[in-house]
Amino acid sequence: MPYENLDDEAGRRRARAGQIPQEAPDRLRLATVDGRTLDDRGGDGGASGDGPSASGIVKPLPPELFVEHETNAEMRWDAMGDVGFHVPNDRFFVRNHTTTPIIDAATWRLRLHGTGLSAPRSFGYEELLAMPSVTRDVAIECAGNGRSLFTTQQHQEVTGTPWLLGGIGVARWRGVPLATVLERAGITPDAVDVMARGLDPAYVADGVDHGRVRRPIPATKALRDVILAYEMNDEPLPPDHGHPVRLVVPGWIGLASVKWVGDIEVSTSPLSSPWNTEFYRMFGDAYPPQGGAPLTTQGVRSAFELPWNATLVAGRPYVLRGRSWSGNGRIADVEVSLDGGATWQRAPLRGPHVASTWTRWQVTWKPAESGRHFLLARATDETGVVQPSHTTHNDFGYLFDAVVCHPVTVVSG
Ligand code: MTE
Repeated sequence: MPYENLDDEAGRRRARAGQIPQEAPDRLRLATVDGRTLDDRGGDGGASGDGPSASGIVKPLPPELFVEHETNAEMRWDAMGDVGFHVPNDRFFVRNHTTTPIIDAATWRLRLHGTGLSAPRSFGYEELLAMPSVTRDVAIECAGNGRSLFTTQQHQEVTGTPWLLGGIGVARWRGVPLATVLERAGITPDAVDVMARGLDPAYVADGVDHGRVRRPIPATKALRDVILAYEMNDEPLPPDHGHPVRLVVPGWIGLASVKWVGDIEVSTSPLSSPWNTEFYRMFGDAYPPQGGAPLTTQGVRSAFELPWNATLVAGRPYVLRGRSWSGNGRIADVEVSLDGGATWQRAPLRGPHVASTWTRWQVTWKPAESGRHFLLARATDETGVVQPSHTTHNDFGYLFDAVVCHPVTVVSG
C-alpha cells in the first residue's frame, strides 16, 4: 500500500543523526540587503510599524499566527479555524527575497517599455485607480510550499526555505486588468513576453547580485487574466504584499505575482531573468541537466486546519476541517483517510467552489484508539489531476504535491 512508509523510524533516525536535514539548508540565508546580510541588520525581530523589522517584514508576526523563516513568514494552518474563505491581510503569508520597501504611492510611477509596445508610457497611482477595475478571489502560493515535506515525509534532501504548508493564502484582489494597461501602451500583436520588475532591493545570493526580482510571463497569459492589483481584501495593498501595486497571476506559482511593480517590459522576443533560468525550474536526477521548463501552474494540494502533531482525546467527536486547491481549476473531489491510507471517505465540500482559490471541506472523527495516527487528504481537480502519493524529487524542493501525512497523537480520555 502506498503509505506504508509513513512512520519510517529509520528515516527519522537518519534525519535526527543529521544525515538528512530536518530543515533543509536555506539558500536564502545568504540573501543580503544593501550589501549586508539580514542577520547584520540588528533589531529584535518585532515590527516597529514604521519600517521593516529584522526579518524585513513590516507587519507584526505573532508566533501563534506565523512561523518565521528568515525573510519570510509562513501562515500557521492551525490558526485557520476562525478564518473564513479569505485570509485577512494581517494573517497572509509573506515571501520576500529581501525586504519590504516602503513606497510613496503619490510619487510612484509604473513605466511600460520595450519592443512590444507602440506607445510606451507611464501611469501614476491615481490614474490606475481611475481606470475600470476588476475584483477577483485568487490564491497566491509559493512554489516552495510544502518543501520541508520532501525531507520529513520522503527523506530527501532539498535546499530552500523549509515551508510546511502555510505558503499560501486566498485574498480578494481589486485592480486594473493588466491587459487594459498593456493595450493603452500599444501592445503589438507580435509581443511574446511581459516582465514586471519589483522595487524591492536587489537579491544577492552566494555573492552574486541577481538584480531586482523579475520574471517574464507569456503575453497570452498577461492579456488573459492577470490583474495589476492595488487592493487586497478591500484595503489598499499593505506594504508587505506589494504596495502600491502588484501583479496577481491566477493559477501560477507565487513568484509570477511580482510585488511593488516599478516597470514592465514588453518584448517581441523571449525575455529571461535568473528567476526563469536559474531558479524556479526543476533540477535533479529526474530532470535534464539544464533543468526543466520554467515553472508555471501550481499543482493540487490539501491541508488540515490542525496543529502539526495535534493532540486529540480518544472517544471524543471532532470536526476535522481542511482546504484543497489547484492551479489548474476547481477542486472536484476530496477524499480523507483517518487511518494512514488504509481506507478513504469522501469529504463534503463547503463554501465557495471557485477556480484559482481553495475549497473548504470537513469530516467528523471520533478517534477510538490512543497512539500516533496519520490523517491524509487527497484532492482531485476538475481536470482530473489527483494528488499523488509521492512527489518526484527536485533539488530546490519545488511543487510538493503528494498527499501529506498529517501526524496526530490520540490520548486516552
Ligand atoms: N515580488 C517581489 N518584487 N519580490 C519578491 O520577493 N516574492 C514572490 C512574489 N512576488 C517576491 C515578489 C514570491 S516567491 C511569492 S510566493 C509571492 O510574491 C508572495 O506574495 P506575498 O508575500 O504577498 O504572500
